[in-house]
Amino acid sequence: MTALLPSTSEPAYVISVATLEDISDIVALQSQNHVSRGGALSVEFPARWFERAIEDMPIVIARRQGRLVGYLVSSSQAAIQDHPLPQAKFRAYPASPGAYNSGPLCIAASERGRGLVSSLFAEQRALLQGREGVAFIRQDNAASRAVHARYGFREVAEFSHAGVEYLVVSYPAENAK
Ligand SMILES: CC(C)(COP(=O)(O)OP(=O)(O)OC[C@H]1O[C@@H](n2cnc3c(N)ncnc32)[C@H](O)[C@@H]1OP(=O)(O)O)[C@@H](O)C(=O)NCCC(=O)NCCS
Repeated sequence: MTALLPSTSEPAYVISVATLEDISDIVALQSQNHVSRGGALSVEFPARWFERAIEDMPIVIARRQGRLVGYLVSSSQAAIQDHPLPQAKFRAYPASPGAYNSGPLCIAASERGRGLVSSLFAEQRALLQGREGVAFIRQDNAASRAVHARYGFREVAEFSHAGVEYLVVSYPAENAK
């Protein structure tokens, strides 16, 4: 668990790996940011999916004063086999063996623009050294495209799903040290 100070006068962010106790808060933040409620998250995973996902790979979370303010999921390719949209990503871009899904990534609206994404990626990469990370982003999600580019993801493919255009971005295994 690590702490990051947003500024000298504000409480620290506490970065950790999610446990079962964190899932209800993750689901609540996901719900606030889903496209069906005007947000930018394309897929809404149920609590049961997160419970299985954390048995397999880490979900990195940030809390501030106890409140969940960000999360970054990593999951295996097997974990998304029943989810057509992330599956479409791997059809558009055949990733390297051992590649993981990076994302969803979400920062609470009140905490954006403070560099918190950097702490989530740093923790994820420390845990998943030497493996390629692959994410998909709606082409019209400029903030997500900007942060993924800033943290070393390259745009490697495009695909269309249910009338929406997406990009596939990859964080190469050779960078993941
Ligand atoms: C995407 C997200 C994680 C970024 O977090 P953040 O704290 O805002 O990230 P940062 O402030 O570090 O960087 C945001 C970048 O997007 C840019 N940006 C923000 N809003 C933008 C907009 N509407 N149009 C264009 N660029 C925008 C910022 O200028 C910044 O770019 P820069 O690094 O070149 O200056 C956050 O906005 C979020 O959780 N959004 C909702 C869920 C989501 O879209 N998740 C990603 C799904 S793939």
